[in-house]
Amino acid sequence: MTEAPKKLYIKTYGCQMNVYDSERMAEAMGGQGYEQVDSPEGADMILLNTCHIREKAAEKVYSELGRYKPLKVANPDLKIGVAGCVAQAEGEEILRRQPMVDLVVGPQSYHRLPELERQARAGGKALDTDFPEEMKFDHLPQRPKPKRGPTAFLTVQEGCDKFCAFCVVPYTRGAEVSRPVSRILREAEGLVEQGVREITLLGQNVNAYHGEEGSETWGLARLIRRLAEIDGLDRIRFTTSHPRDMDDDLIAAHGDCDKLMPYLHLPVQSGSDRILKRMNRGHTAEDYIRLVERIRAARPDILMSGDFIVGFPEETEEDFLATMALVEEVGYGQCFSFKYSSRPGTPAAERPLVDPAEADDRLQRLQALLTRQQRAAQDAMVGREVGVLVEKAGRLPGQVVGKSDHLHAVHMVANLAPGSLVRARITESAPNSLAGTLV
Ligand code: 5AD
Ligand code: SF4
Repeated sequence: MTEAPKKLYIKTYGCQMNVYDSERMAEAMGGQGYEQVDSPEGADMILLNTCHIREKAAEKVYSELGRYKPLKVANPDLKIGVAGCVAQAEGEEILRRQPMVDLVVGPQSYHRLPELERQARAGGKALDTDFPEEMKFDHLPQRPKPKRGPTAFLTVQEGCDKFCAFCVVPYTRGAEVSRPVSRILREAEGLVEQGVREITLLGQNVNAYHGEEGSETWGLARLIRRLAEIDGLDRIRFTTSHPRDMDDDLIAAHGDCDKLMPYLHLPVQSGSDRILKRMNRGHTAEDYIRLVERIRAARPDILMSGDFIVGFPEETEEDFLATMALVEEVGYGQCFSFKYSSRPGTPAAERPLVDPAEADDRLQRLQALLTRQQRAAQDAMVGREVGVLVEKAGRLPGQVVGKSDHLHAVHMVANLAPGSLVRARITESAPNSLAGTLV
């Protein structure tokens, strides 16, 4: 008789990198007889995969942990772990402040999770937040386990050397490291064999990619061109990029590589040169605008996306208006915008804050503009023919939903299986999605 699988509940916060990491953690624990479940009740192990990038992240983790207390009381064998960037940043402090926690594991050490779990089962506390010397990608799958759905993420790069003054990533995720080309190709081929038709290449600084291939070093554009040769892989995307790493070849690939989709997430953070300098971004507003012009020259219909921070220390109304002007000039398809929140240990944390009411007001004004632009970009799709990769059944009977080349959700009444790549004419634009008919 085989033992019943143990139940693993993973709660994921934050970015796509964390979503990907959670899948890898579930795989690693699968080898230990764990099966992933959708709710913490009745679980044998709970893992919080945390994000530290904004707003009181550690406090949220502690309050979430507090919610698990009754579960631990009811089942003393329940093991609770904290993973991700808060684990990296807080380390032992978590074990001190929350004795209920059995293990703490940083993003560089997920391959050690089974061993840490064994330590915890043996009654100890397990902690691993080292930045190991060994290649941290060695544990990533050679042959990923079967996937549901036609889209997948694939990590090609981790960490960041840019040290933007507000950001914890260089501290929690460590220095920039790229995965070797051959590993990525093998994983991509494995995904395609399982029916994946669209791959999004992931990295905190993905366009800084510089992977080894024999004695050569490949940039992201060369990697994309090689991936595009895989039969059955129809679409390639990548995220997130830094303006300073958009090289000529990558810009050109947007024009000449059909499988590279016309959507680019290229955060600028601010439109004020004074603030960009204080943020240590290494580019001006003008550099960014010229860069977008060159990308649009290569791929005129590209939809631009970005991230913005308002209320960075010492941001004046004039600085903020420069951000609004940049947004007007670039014209975005979709954006993320945040109020600055101070991260202990980063250089900006030492500087005087903007009045919070003022920062809130700026965020509202920026978001109103970005929402208008997002809506305009969607409305401009009406009447156009676009590619749609069907992902699943829609909410209404007979309906399917998928993503357009430009990453808009598209609803269609059609009898199509997930994974179908079709042409559709867009007929309608709703607040967060499009409707289309099969061409
Ligand atoms: N405060 C607010 N926003 C931040 N981001 C990163 N750090 C901070 C911070 N301290 C935003 C940036 C980044 C996105 C992932 O999160 O805009 O691009
Ligand atoms: Fe953080 Fe800047 Fe690196 Fe992006 S580029 S991860 S914002 S330090």
